[in-house]
Amino acid sequence: MTHHKNANSRIPAVAVLGLGPMGRALAAASLAAGHPTVLWNRSPDKAAPLVARGASVAATPAEAARRASVVLTCVVDYEAARAVVAGLASGSTAMVVNLSSGHAAQARDMASWAAGQGIDYLDGAIVTPAPTIGTPAASILYSGPRALYDRSAIVRESLGAGVYLGADAGTAAAYEMALLDLFTMCVGGLAHAFALAAAEGISPEAFARFARGIGHLLPDMSDRFADQLSTGSFSADVSSIASAGSAIAHVRAAASARDLDTAPLRAVQSIIDRAVAAGYGDDSYARLAQSLSSVGRTVTPIENPA
Ligand SMILES: NC(=O)c1ccc[n+]([C@@H]2O[C@H](COP(=O)([O-])OP(=O)(O)OC[C@H]3O[C@@H](n4cnc5c(N)ncnc54)[C@H](OP(=O)(O)O)[C@@H]3O)[C@@H](O)[C@H]2O)c1
Repeated sequence: MTHHKNANSRIPAVAVLGLGPMGRALAAASLAAGHPTVLWNRSPDKAAPLVARGASVAATPAEAARRASVVLTCVVDYEAARAVVAGLASGSTAMVVNLSSGHAAQARDMASWAAGQGIDYLDGAIVTPAPTIGTPAASILYSGPRALYDRSAIVRESLGAGVYLGADAGTAAAYEMALLDLFTMCVGGLAHAFALAAAEGISPEAFARFARGIGHLLPDMSDRFADQLSTGSFSADVSSIASAGSAIAHVRAAASARDLDTAPLRAVQSIIDRAVAAGYGDDSYARLAQSLSSVGRTVTPIENPA
């Protein structure tokens, strides 16, 4: 049987609302760090393996919150998170850390709604996969009141490394969305490349050996984007936008010849074509980010970590 410090010790009790793969990982990390951990999920059966490890179960979100000093919500989106948090008893003194995904405006709306309900609310965004939780590989971003970030320190530390991004509740979600943008587009590129390789009779294993080399280019390329976007100097020291345009035309022809869906390639080509038409063909790839974001919008800069 797992032994936990009792509720009177200084180790705070944690409620985890939402037991998908990420909620279960959060609950497991909380238990492993010795926090009394109370669980609630819309479908109650998912709690069973964690109960076997020492967690308790609450019948409602309100009951879970009453038994904890920090409530972690981790459900599919902000709509579901708000429905869950709306069920907390008005008398609950527990602070809420919402780790569900969504975009910045949703996080800000949730924070002001929570303030109106008298709920102490901190927004968070988990930017590493579930198996990293509770390990040094975890990375979790937070934004909202600094006092709540500090108040949740013991609980946060059991989940993994946290970074505080400032008082604007939307900042963590803004970072998460940009990181998910990078991740999902890379996944799309990977899927398309494996499909094209397969269409040419290349085995997945043989292709993966060479795909690694492309993956290794990303960290340096990302730093170069940051440098060029912040200085506004887009000299094409490596490759130009026009050369990327020729490359993608070759890939489109190859994919068409194999009856492969070319939609993702056409999307990228349209971005390149627009930049070339605007006279940026000789510039570096980083210029593409600038031409994508200058679609007649004004953007209020968000706070950035030091
Ligand atoms: N999995 C990861 O590696 C990962 C990484 C980073 C961020 N995240 C984020 O973490 C959050 C949770 O992700 P997940 O992977 O655990 O699973 P998920 O499939 O995104 O969400 C499943 C959870 O949401 C609950 N849920 C869905 N609709 C609900 C509603 N209307 N009311 C109440 N609960 C509702 C589900 O309850 P039922 O069990 O009853 O269906 C379940 O607990 C998401 O926002 C996700 O983007 C996940």
